Amino acid sequence: MEFEPFKIKVVEPIPITTKEYRLKKLEEAHYNLFLLRSDDITIDLLTDSGTGAMSSKQWSALFDGDEAYAGSRSYFKFEEVVQKITGFKHVIPTHQGRAAERIVFSILGGKGKLIPSNTHFDTTRANIEFTGAQAFDFPSPISFRTDEIADFKGNMDLERLEDFLRSHSREEIPLVMMTVTNNSGGGQPVSMENIRRTSELAKKYGIPFFIDCCRFAENAYFIKMREPGYADKNVMEIAHEMFSYADGCLMSAKKDGLSNTGGFIATNLDELARRARDLLIITEGFVTYGGLARRDLETLAVGLLEALDEKYLEYRINQVRFLGNKLVEKDVPILLPIGGHAIYLDAKRFAPHIPPEQFPGQSIACEIYIQGGVRTVEIGSLMFGKDGDGQRELRPPFELVRLAIPRRVYTNNHLQYVADVVGEVYRNRDKLRGMKITYQTQFLRHFTAHLEYI
Ligand code: F0G
Repeated sequence: MEFEPFKIKVVEPIPITTKEYRLKKLEEAHYNLFLLRSDDITIDLLTDSGTGAMSSKQWSALFDGDEAYAGSRSYFKFEEVVQKITGFKHVIPTHQGRAAERIVFSILGGKGKLIPSNTHFDTTRANIEFTGAQAFDFPSPISFRTDEIADFKGNMDLERLEDFLRSHSREEIPLVMMTVTNNSGGGQPVSMENIRRTSELAKKYGIPFFIDCCRFAENAYFIKMREPGYADKNVMEIAHEMFSYADGCLMSAKKDGLSNTGGFIATNLDELARRARDLLIITEGFVTYGGLARRDLETLAVGLLEALDEKYLEYRINQVRFLGNKLVEKDVPILLPIGGHAIYLDAKRFAPHIPPEQFPGQSIACEIYIQGGVRTVEIGSLMFGKDGDGQRELRPPFELVRLAIPRRVYTNNHLQYVADVVGEVYRNRDKLRGMKITYQTQFLRHFTAHLEYI
């Protein structure tokens, strides 16, 4: 498809600022792009989470929200759609993904527990570590080679997983997880075969298997495009098969729910669901709304199905590829192949003169903002360079800058502009300078840290 499979009904002007203004604002924000005001940003590629545009069907569904505290009709619509897609019996709404994580890991985590995944997202890891448990990543080895093309670089390293499962007791490992697509590993998809084999390993060792499924529709589309045997299946069937191998899932519906907020836990495990509902009531809200307005459940019931529309998915994946190809044309080093929801600049190759401990990704992200008012996010030593008790500096395998594309928000003209801005920063890459942290917190420091140039 050469064009967007929608027309635009509502528009929002975007701020256009000067370089001098942006320099001042960035200094005031202590060189942390999370601390900028969105009014000072021209194109916001910080995240694809909760930043998408809703359809007219979703906006009209909002009005149909039944705001009953208990037993809301909107919940039952939402439950039916989630069950249809995932096949799971229990559907527990939460206000976003990390609320689902906090609830599940409060039950299954704790001191001495070990939770493996292909790659945990930052909030997932933080929620695991916050309970005293440890999070382990076993991404496939090819994922570290950022310029090597492969179909499913998001896969789990099954050998390392099996070694791990073999060398610990079942009591120590409450859960095996899988993130699809693998966000922190570059937005790369996971194959059906890898999901199935991970599930088989988990079963062999008697451990429940959960999918972190916030980009399940994009993952299903990649399976359709790339995995033998799936070209003629529709993405709903593929998604259904993905979930059929798991005992449950944690979802941030701010991504492939095509909504601005929301999440859920869905599972077949009765006892876990019972305990999760108990905790939900204490901190999120009653079991038929979980911290959401009931109208939000309406938008999700529509959005989750729209996300599985193949015309939409084709447009979505093509748009991300459009930006990636423009950058490749300018020789900008990016993680290949191009993933599902974002382009990842390879900061190690982009600015090889800045060592990891001086945050090359953050230096590039700051310069992209100064150059063109485009906000991106560092995924490297700033985001992941610290362990859970905040004591040790770690060296993550990647130094990346993510350009996440909100769903149905920007046109390819906007992305052409982004490519020109990044291209200009790359042309002047020798002038990029290393940075140091002047203030940080114990968990998830990248959200609030202060930095300055060395
Ligand atoms: N899991 C994955 C794979 C995610 O990408 C995110 C959020 C979460 C869990 C947590 O969900 O934000 O609703 O609480 N990712 C966003 C991002 C923030 O920018 O990639 P949440």
